Amino acid sequence: MQNIRNFSIIAHIDHGKSTLADRMLEETHTIEKRKMREQVLDQMDLERERGITIKMQPVRMEYHAEVSSTKVQSSNYILNLIDTPGHIDFSYEVSRALSAVEGAILLVDSTQGVQAQTLSVLELARAQNLVILPVVNKIDLPHAEVERTKDELVRLLGCERESILSVSGKTGEGVAELLQKIVEVIPPPASHLVTSGHQVATLLQALVFDFAYDTHRGVILFLRIFGGELKRNEKLRFTSSGKDFNAIEVGVFRPQEEPTGHLSAGEIGYVVTGIKRPGVASVGDTVTSARNSAPAFSGYQQPTPVIWASVYPESQDDFVLLRQSLDRLRLSDSSLSYEEEQSGIMGRGFRCGFLGMLHLEIITERLRREFNLNLVVTMPTTVYEITRTNGDVDNIYSPAKFPDDGSITSVREQWVRVSIFSPGTALGGIVQLLYDHEATTEKTETLPDGRMRIDAVMPLRELMRGFFDKLKNVSSGFASLSYELLGLRPADVVRLDILVSEEVMPAFTRIVSRRRIQAEGEAMVERLEKLLPQQQRFVIF
Ligand code: GTP
Repeated sequence: MQNIRNFSIIAHIDHGKSTLADRMLEETHTIEKRKMREQVLDQMDLERERGITIKMQPVRMEYHAEVSSTKVQSSNYILNLIDTPGHIDFSYEVSRALSAVEGAILLVDSTQGVQAQTLSVLELARAQNLVILPVVNKIDLPHAEVERTKDELVRLLGCERESILSVSGKTGEGVAELLQKIVEVIPPPASHLVTSGHQVATLLQALVFDFAYDTHRGVILFLRIFGGELKRNEKLRFTSSGKDFNAIEVGVFRPQEEPTGHLSAGEIGYVVTGIKRPGVASVGDTVTSARNSAPAFSGYQQPTPVIWASVYPESQDDFVLLRQSLDRLRLSDSSLSYEEEQSGIMGRGFRCGFLGMLHLEIITERLRREFNLNLVVTMPTTVYEITRTNGDVDNIYSPAKFPDDGSITSVREQWVRVSIFSPGTALGGIVQLLYDHEATTEKTETLPDGRMRIDAVMPLRELMRGFFDKLKNVSSGFASLSYELLGLRPADVVRLDILVSEEVMPAFTRIVSRRRIQAEGEAMVERLEKLLPQQQRFVIF
């Protein structure tokens, strides 16, 4: 175990995680240079087209380190990197990856400096007590501000300036030094001795930090082994569900699956289970031996969907296919949730919960592409918790189900804390934008480089109302944003119905802020007038 290093790269979106991972794969000869393509760890077509990482991807590299300090005892090392998505919707994935490693490279783009998400991912890494290795990236660019970015990192981490490395994921400069440093500063996995009764034995204890699905081989678990050994053909058990399965194949990611027959403590790898039913494997579960069980890890929190939208097949003939496709996607995306629902006009469909707008976009795009489905997707909404006059409390996921008959005493909705980093010149525009979106500013701070940091709280509903795009507009693209969920707080909202030819159209119903009802209604009718035939008459209700 002494010669294993497990780490992840964390950064603000687009600061260069996947590109740096490419150079590490080259430098360690994991992938030959001539076979290299950009962002090789992004394997899904959608990831490559969009240039974004959607699903985390582990990879094992072998590295020959120079013996330079007392900490480095052997010269051949196994480096396990878990590449994570950068978009804020997927911070849950990042937190999971971080619980499977001992260290994190905090990567900062030298042309952008520390940004909003740099802070949020740093908090996640600190929560796991990881060793943080600060690295400044994109130093090949002419407008790189390496020294200024280092100043920011020293202030942020309280680290020695000399401990910060500079690299270019594009040219590979500094990558060899970085690999050496990983070996030196990131600790090897600690050995876990799991007690069973009076005996102290190294029982198998492995954390499921993700999974994928293969039509022929079923669920493939991504595991970090904390104690004991896992072998092919062994009978294994999920501790939370108590379900048993056989390890059909065991191996490591290179980055493609490479069978090894076994995985030992400290290693990261995969197990093919043959399981083809959704809901058996769950992220955060512990895998142990069916003969000699170790206790479970405390596990992760379940992912919380924050927005909901209804997804209907254009033709009701495709309803069963839509159900099968959602079941199938759920086998490789543990954060997707859905339940069947029925709508008068649309027929049978599903109310789906997503981690955010990008997650919604990706899932619906995958349903269309991978399963050839034509879909109608309703406008996404957040959840409203209503307390009725008789004391009943209900969660409302669909605007058309929001009562407007005076039977409610109070409504609560999800709030978020946003953290914005922006050039000082955009402050006026941002303050106005925050006001328009019902935000309350908590803190405004001028950073040493003249940029502003603004922390504010607002309803998630208002964040979803195009806040990010408008923020980019008022700051000429320079502001960055990160947010965290705060839980439910009182909401002053009402239901807005649109009547077409005197009939309420549930598909157009929305929950809006009381103070914006007139403006929202007029805007909706204006848009509908352009879309629907002239003779229809609209009434805002
Ligand atoms: P997400 O996973 O979507 O957050 O992105 P990421 O952090 O993995 O960033 P990615 O590696 O996709 O890089 C973002 C953009 O920056 C791409 O256009 C890269 O080509 C570019 N880039 C990354 N590293 C460097 C670098 O060192 N120098 C230069 N010039 N460009 C870089």
